[in-house]
Amino acid sequence: MSGPVLEVRELTVRYGGTLGCDAVSFDVHEGEVLGIVGESGSGKSTVLGCCGLDLHPSGGWVRLSGMDTAGVVGAQRRRLRNEGIGIVRQAAHEELRLEISAGGNIVERLLATGYRGFQAIRDRAERVYTEVELPAGRMDAAVATFSGGMRQRVQIARALVSEPAVLLLDEPTTGLDVSVQARILDLIRGLQRRTGVAMVVVSHDLAVIRMLADQLLVMRDGRVVESGVTDRVLSDPRHPYTQLLVSSRLEV
Ligand SMILES: Nc1ncnc2c1ncn2[C@@H]1O[C@H](COP(=O)(O)OP(=O)(O)O)[C@@H](O)[C@H]1O
Ligand SMILES: [Mg+2]
Repeated sequence: MSGPVLEVRELTVRYGGTLGCDAVSFDVHEGEVLGIVGESGSGKSTVLGCCGLDLHPSGGWVRLSGMDTAGVVGAQRRRLRNEGIGIVRQAAHEELRLEISAGGNIVERLLATGYRGFQAIRDRAERVYTEVELPAGRMDAAVATFSGGMRQRVQIARALVSEPAVLLLDEPTTGLDVSVQARILDLIRGLQRRTGVAMVVVSHDLAVIRMLADQLLVMRDGRVVESGVTDRVLSDPRHPYTQLLVSSRLEV
């Protein structure tokens, strides 16, 4: 049996005097989805930033497909990020270039991961574009002309086109209309099941976590206060903070 796709141990990030996260540990295996829930400022994006190689931890470590990422820098780090990780963020403009076409955004990622051959690249981009159920005939239109939901679909296509080991989603449906949210979540769940890609999904919204995550971490003030199988944590929360999250309409 192969080891976890993503291993995080004692992960600690300090932003000057502020603690971003404190001694966070977890594993994600192939085919698994880990959810991270917690209120704003609890450290979710900080943890995801370290997994996505955007941030360097102050302490602890992140291993991707068995490789320690700490010493990987420069071009090698960009390559590992391009090939090993797909990212979907709440704000599409942080991952996409809005002025270029949907197809262009997807192709760009393939080129960055070393795909060559015009027709092979075009075919692959088209296949993924279709898989995320974007409208036929809009592939060459600028992303700036797309709705919020469509932009998330382009992000998902771009993130998955290079078949990364792990897909990281930071509030992927936050801010969308409820009906659009539901369709995007359906799509993510379907693609995850079909491809078996390991996933970490961060959300302040328990409904998103409930729908996508097998395992769950509950974070507060940079620390993990509870973890376990999602169904167990949500049906039988043990930490008072998780009980508050689950039982009440606590605004997170
Ligand atoms: N770039 C930064 N500089 C300083 N403090 C930051 C920075 N990013 C996050 N923080 C702080 O780290 C803590 C965790 O933030 P974050 O990981 O963004 O939480 P979440 O994603 O759960 O809202 C918060 O106290 C936040 O203010
Ligand atoms: Mg965040």
